[in-house]
Amino acid sequence: MDLYRPIYHFMPERNWMNDPNGPLFYKGDYHLFYQHNPYSDQWDTMHWGHARSRDLIHWEHLPVALAPSNDRGEHHCFSGCAVIGDDGLPVIFYTSIGIGERNAATGAEQWMAVSHDDMLTWEKPAANPVMTADIHGGMVVTEWRDPYVWKENGVWLMVVGGSHEGRGCALLYRSDNLRDWTFLHILHEGAEQIWECPNFFPLGDKHVLIYSPNGPVQYSIGSFNEDMTFTPEQSGIIDFSGWEGYYAPNGLLDDKGRRVLWGWLPEASRGEFKGAAGWSGAQSLPRILSLDGEGGLRMEPAPELAVLRGTPVSLRDLRLSGPDWDTGVRGRAFEIAAEFELLSGPIGISVLRSPDGQEETVFSIDPVDGVFTISRTRSSLSSEPHKTDVTGRIDLEGSSRVSLRLFVDHSVVEVFVNGRQCITARVYPVLESSEGVYIGVPRGAEALIHSMDIWPMRPIGQQTER
Ligand code: FRU
Repeated sequence: MDLYRPIYHFMPERNWMNDPNGPLFYKGDYHLFYQHNPYSDQWDTMHWGHARSRDLIHWEHLPVALAPSNDRGEHHCFSGCAVIGDDGLPVIFYTSIGIGERNAATGAEQWMAVSHDDMLTWEKPAANPVMTADIHGGMVVTEWRDPYVWKENGVWLMVVGGSHEGRGCALLYRSDNLRDWTFLHILHEGAEQIWECPNFFPLGDKHVLIYSPNGPVQYSIGSFNEDMTFTPEQSGIIDFSGWEGYYAPNGLLDDKGRRVLWGWLPEASRGEFKGAAGWSGAQSLPRILSLDGEGGLRMEPAPELAVLRGTPVSLRDLRLSGPDWDTGVRGRAFEIAAEFELLSGPIGISVLRSPDGQEETVFSIDPVDGVFTISRTRSSLSSEPHKTDVTGRIDLEGSSRVSLRLFVDHSVVEVFVNGRQCITARVYPVLESSEGVYIGVPRGAEALIHSMDIWPMRPIGQQTER
């Protein structure tokens, strides 16, 4: 039994996975590609792995979609997107990293691949590359990668991540036919050194830009103007964890008009820990994005996840006034949904806890300091995994009421607060008995649990029936 391999988060059958790539809803299926090394559990030559799902939860693994074409000077197939072209054929856009000197200036070209058999095999047309870095004229763009393509008002548009004069940016391009592209301008930029994996899409009456700046993933919401400039109005954090738990998300629009986002849950937190091996990286739970009444971003776990729930333990109207209240639940794969009121001070939920409390991972919300934290100090008796706190600012909007969804899946702790703020971390407890779920508040503080349901979650296994 693998203590660490998640059972209800999407993963390849074995070996390395990083970014979600080219998510696309096509002919009744969700398709998800991903950065993949099919040969080991370490990052190395990048391929695109591929899977599809009818229900967003159970996945059928498909053959590797893209492998580097060494004969064409290609060393890696980096991240990108997939769209359905005007002729109805699915098209992948991705960053091709060259062997040796090819494009030594940036190391990158943007390439395309087309499928004629409903996305099972992919052909890279002779017309590649679709773009080389000289498309920017005299402007020097480095770390140029991760194309994201969409169509708006009859025009194909693309954003690519990069760095310009030491600032991370998303660059904008347009095309009438998906093959010939023109550079327009920098859509948006920031103080970070690099922006990777930009996504830019309409949501409600706004546009949302998501980018991964080598740290916690960020978003900006604003208007996309007629001259194709972007005026950001609000910004925030998609997930506070960065390399400790969540990076490089990518999303799609499904047949229900929903914007679904997946992010890579990296294993940087393993450090030198060798207890987990043969696989690396999971995808986050599918998050549904929407706008709230004030134009802010909502992020909620897809409702489809409920099919994985077993029989719950349910608590109602519990007044908590001290630490270490044992819920009685034991497990490594479960969901907690809770509604509570923080009457004074913080609340903590301890998971993956050993009977003697030597090992535990504690999620807490402190309404006074306005922070939420996944504390990993005692998450593992091994000295090797990362044990820094993963923490973020939380805006409870002046209310003491909190609505929480907390998912534990072996080495994953993924949390949604009030459908607005997310925080994720990886943990590697070594004791088989680290399965307890406790809740508590510091002595002298008080919280009212209106409801708490804890469901064991079933494994997603592999979808076989079509
Ligand atoms: C983000 C990233 C992308 C790149 C890919 C390579 O995690 O660095 O920018 O395309 O991973 O695997």
